[in-house]
Amino acid sequence: MSNLYRFGIAVDRELVDEFDIVAEESGYANRSEAIRDIMRNFVIEKKTQQKGMDVVGSFTMIYNHRKRISDKLTEYQHKHNEEIISTLHIHLTEECCLEILALRGKSENIKKIADSLLAQKGVMNGKLVLTAI
Ligand code: NI
Repeated sequence: MSNLYRFGIAVDRELVDEFDIVAEESGYANRSEAIRDIMRNFVIEKKTQQKGMDVVGSFTMIYNHRKRISDKLTEYQHKHNEEIISTLHIHLTEECCLEILALRGKSENIKKIADSLLAQKGVMNGKLVLTAI
């Protein structure tokens, strides 16, 4: 890291103490490294919310695997094969399936796919995690 830029910020002492404890417990070697990670995540999070941004991510969902639901979800995934680049399916119980989709595309398209899957009858819960290269 040859291009390091130093800057000062004013923060409540109590917050700094708490931050240092949590950062150390999380395994950070120092405060700067923890703050750099937080800044990177903040930038990526804001960027992935912008329309037209190329993003990658995962969508994790749990659903009831009755045949009609499974067929509908499979059909939907085939329709969006440009964005859904990989799928991992785990049979959790006799009734429940866990599915993890790897996604790639424009942020608004990926969010739309996740929202549509979440809205399907039988999908009990799900979460989209986006990042950018
Ligand atoms: Ni299954």
